[in-house]
Amino acid sequence: MQKSSSSSYLGPGGLDLTQTFFKPILNTAPPSPTKRHTKISVIGVGNVGMAIAQTILTQDLADEIALVDAKADKLRGEMLDLQHAAAFLPRTKIIASVDYSVTVGSDLCIITAGARQLPGESRLNLLQRNVALFTSIVPPLAKYSPDTILMIVSNPVDILTYVAWKLSRFPSNRVIGSGTNLDSSRFRFLIADHLDVNAQDVQAYIVGEHGDSSVALWSSISVGGVPVLSFLEKQQISYEKETLENIHKDVVNGAYEVISLKGYTSWAIGYSVANLARSILRDQRKIHPVSVLAKGFYGIDGGDVFFSLPAQLGRSGILGVTNIHLTDEEAQRLKDSAKTLIEMQSQLGL
Ligand SMILES: NC(=O)c1ccc[n+]([C@@H]2O[C@H](COP(=O)([O-])OP(=O)(O)OC[C@H]3O[C@@H](n4cnc5c(N)ncnc54)[C@H](O)[C@@H]3O)[C@@H](O)[C@H]2O)c1
Repeated sequence: MQKSSSSSYLGPGGLDLTQTFFKPILNTAPPSPTKRHTKISVIGVGNVGMAIAQTILTQDLADEIALVDAKADKLRGEMLDLQHAAAFLPRTKIIASVDYSVTVGSDLCIITAGARQLPGESRLNLLQRNVALFTSIVPPLAKYSPDTILMIVSNPVDILTYVAWKLSRFPSNRVIGSGTNLDSSRFRFLIADHLDVNAQDVQAYIVGEHGDSSVALWSSISVGGVPVLSFLEKQQISYEKETLENIHKDVVNGAYEVISLKGYTSWAIGYSVANLARSILRDQRKIHPVSVLAKGFYGIDGGDVFFSLPAQLGRSGILGVTNIHLTDEEAQRLKDSAKTLIEMQSQLGL
């Protein structure tokens, strides 16, 4: 299964030209000790895992990508398909195995493996199945890469990030859920579309639980540095609160709409997670709304709970949580989400 894209093995009997193809340079020095080899592992090669892997590949974010899945044939097929694009891409070693030893020495491990909801199955039952799945994924990842950063994408992402934190016993700065980074990107797209501006000029955050009960931070939206709502108020331009609520509803319904139309979501989550990988591995110190251990921030207490807050990301993972302004209503909604998540977690027996 394990075969690198740079292998010189060719067919039965082999044909190894590495010793004769190039004339060696005399008196070479070893590579600089500061030049690091970056390795990313992606667990689960379904729609989401492969969109993430291929975006990481095209954006040249890793020297080595290791893929792991429980389905050996699918895994080998995906590995070969990516390797066959080598002539068009930056050089990246791509390896795959059902055995977690392939992930050894990873800088970042991205978990997208997940069980799908069965007809009539409760959310709690699905969650329990995913927790069981994580007990077979997280401990081997932690064993083979004790210094890695874990990035959880599988849903329900906030609770599974908590589960990964518990199972790995890693410090909380090294366990991150992709959280509302994608919701916020949908939000920025819709606002940009509404105002006919570039989405990259829109600063806007969705925080809290990924999905239905997420919280849109309206008061902190700015376009090109101009705070939108206070600008409208100062200019006495009236706007309907309902318009804002509808934009948030479109964000929440966005995933359902894509799933009902094409069966799954993939491209946006691929770019969203590759963007997080870049901020972490290249120490970009950018602020992203991601799922973090929220206890102690914004009045959240009463237990360990993960959900999204705007956090600064760098080479050691979460560097800090931004002290953003929340209205009383927004703060209360975060507290309510925390309570619901803690209640669900308490049923997991971890
Ligand atoms: N956080 C987000 O913003 C976000 C966005 C989109 C999707 N998701 C979630 O990502 C997950 C994956 O979605 P998908 O569409 O790729 O699903 P999928 O069914 O296409 O892929 C899941 C993969 O996990 C693999 N798998 C299952 N059990 C495994 C195990 N024990 N070890 C290794 N691999 C295993 C399966 O073989 C499959 O290849 C889902 O939980 C989905 O809800 C999250």
